Amino acid sequence: MTVLLTGAAGFIGFHVSKALMARGEDVVGIDNLNPYYDPRLKQARLGQLQENSRFRFHQLDVSDRDGMLGLAGEYPQAKAIIHLAAQAGVRHSLTDPYVYVQSNVLGQVVILELARLLKPLKHVVYASSSSVYGGNTELPFSVDQPVEKPNSLYAATKRADELIAYT
Ligand SMILES: NC(=O)c1ccc[n+]([C@@H]2O[C@H](COP(=O)([O-])OP(=O)(O)OC[C@H]3O[C@@H](n4cnc5c(N)ncnc54)[C@H](O)[C@@H]3O)[C@@H](O)[C@H]2O)c1
Repeated sequence: MTVLLTGAAGFIGFHVSKALMARGEDVVGIDNLNPYYDPRLKQARLGQLQENSRFRFHQLDVSDRDGMLGLAGEYPQAKAIIHLAAQAGVRHSLTDPYVYVQSNVLGQVVILELARLLKPLKHVVYASSSSVYGGNTELPFSVDQPVEKPNSLYAATKRADELIAYT
């Protein structure tokens, strides 16, 4: 099975890619390798993934419509998308709010449009965030808890993604 996986050079994407390949899946990794944190760490993870012949990599921004939708022509057999690419962090949203909307909201719409083009596709998996629960102090968090008061732009974009995916 071929899996398209965004955020492949990130902390979670690297480990998910490794786990998928270990169970025999082909992984098409997508990442823009942005400098939000040291890109050498991302390159090092990528280097390890690229040692496996099951791994392909595209340096792309998930908000790049043409680049992303072009993947449907290149990998028409893809059966799953795991969408982990996102601009994370709360403090950074105070200095660069636009990148959250570009990567997290526009990127989400592009992923869903890509999904519509992939006919054999069975699953789209999206990583939201516990930040959507805002100041809620009731533990453990549950999907039945209120999510209408996110307390950061990051959280608001993650919640927006849930709503966009639902719709
Ligand atoms: N790590 C956590 O504790 C945690 C908790 C809740 C949710 N999440 C979510 O899980 C996902 C992965 O998180 P992570 O901890 O691995 O983060 P990470 O920052 O290590 O990885 C994200 C990767 O996405 C890439 N990326 C960012 N914007 C992109 C864009 N526009 N186009 C293409 N690539 C882009 C980055 O270069 C990075 O390699 C994110 O969606 C994050 O919001 C993480």
